[in-house]
Amino acid sequence: MADNEEKTKSEGQPAKSEGQPASPPAPVPAPAQKTAPPAAQPAPKPPPAVQPRAPLTKPPPKPPAPGRRNFLKIMTVVGGILGITPFIPYGAFFTGGGAGSSLERQRIQKSDAVFANVNNMVPDSAAIFVYPRTNDPKLDAEPFRRYQLIRLAGAHGGDSREVSSFRAYSMICVHLWCLWDYVPGREVVIDDQNIVGNLECPCHGSNYNVLNGKAYIGPAADQTPPNDALASLPLEVDAAGDIWVTPPNTSFDQNGIVGIGREV
Ligand code: FES
Repeated sequence: MADNEEKTKSEGQPAKSEGQPASPPAPVPAPAQKTAPPAAQPAPKPPPAVQPRAPLTKPPPKPPAPGRRNFLKIMTVVGGILGITPFIPYGAFFTGGGAGSSLERQRIQKSDAVFANVNNMVPDSAAIFVYPRTNDPKLDAEPFRRYQLIRLAGAHGGDSREVSSFRAYSMICVHLWCLWDYVPGREVVIDDQNIVGNLECPCHGSNYNVLNGKAYIGPAADQTPPNDALASLPLEVDAAGDIWVTPPNTSFDQNGIVGIGREV
């Protein structure tokens, strides 16, 4: 069962906007002056129809040039994000996990302060944890450090004590940065495969495949890769059964970048 009591969904939520302003209506040309012969004035043109307001969305990433692929992806996606969420100190997370920390090997400490172990996490359950953990309460409260460790349902190999039973995903939804939650026992069908357990964002309905962190429904699923999958963390299980994060590779084709995405 997820540690819902620790989750503060309001943190890290992006600023809401009512959308982009609609385009101003085109001026209606005045009827031409006529001197003779007097004739009936042309009927005034009806005003142009008001276009509906476009919803505020991040612009989709554009195909990058091969040699500078990751850099351009970051710039394209971040450019859109900067315009709508200027208040979040996300910059440091793009390059090293945030201020006052480094991406080092750490034993996972659940929100109840107990270290995560194969013996204290049952299949089809999740635990919120902080990475990188600094032990500074203010830094460790940052939403961009928040992950969920998920032990897969038995149907997906979660009965095993091996690291293959576990997944760790950033809780930052790659749509507009709300925090998703794991719903144990939820049965969904993704690409004709029955899946038990689901990652659901409460803001706009994006759902992510628990097996790989890729959005399969909702606005995040409509975004261009790598902007459609959650950043992840590599894990290992030691001889005592404790579960560790090993230093992630923030390339898009590896663990990806929090809030931006990962190639799946
Ligand atoms: S922030 Fe929009 S679906 Fe998650």
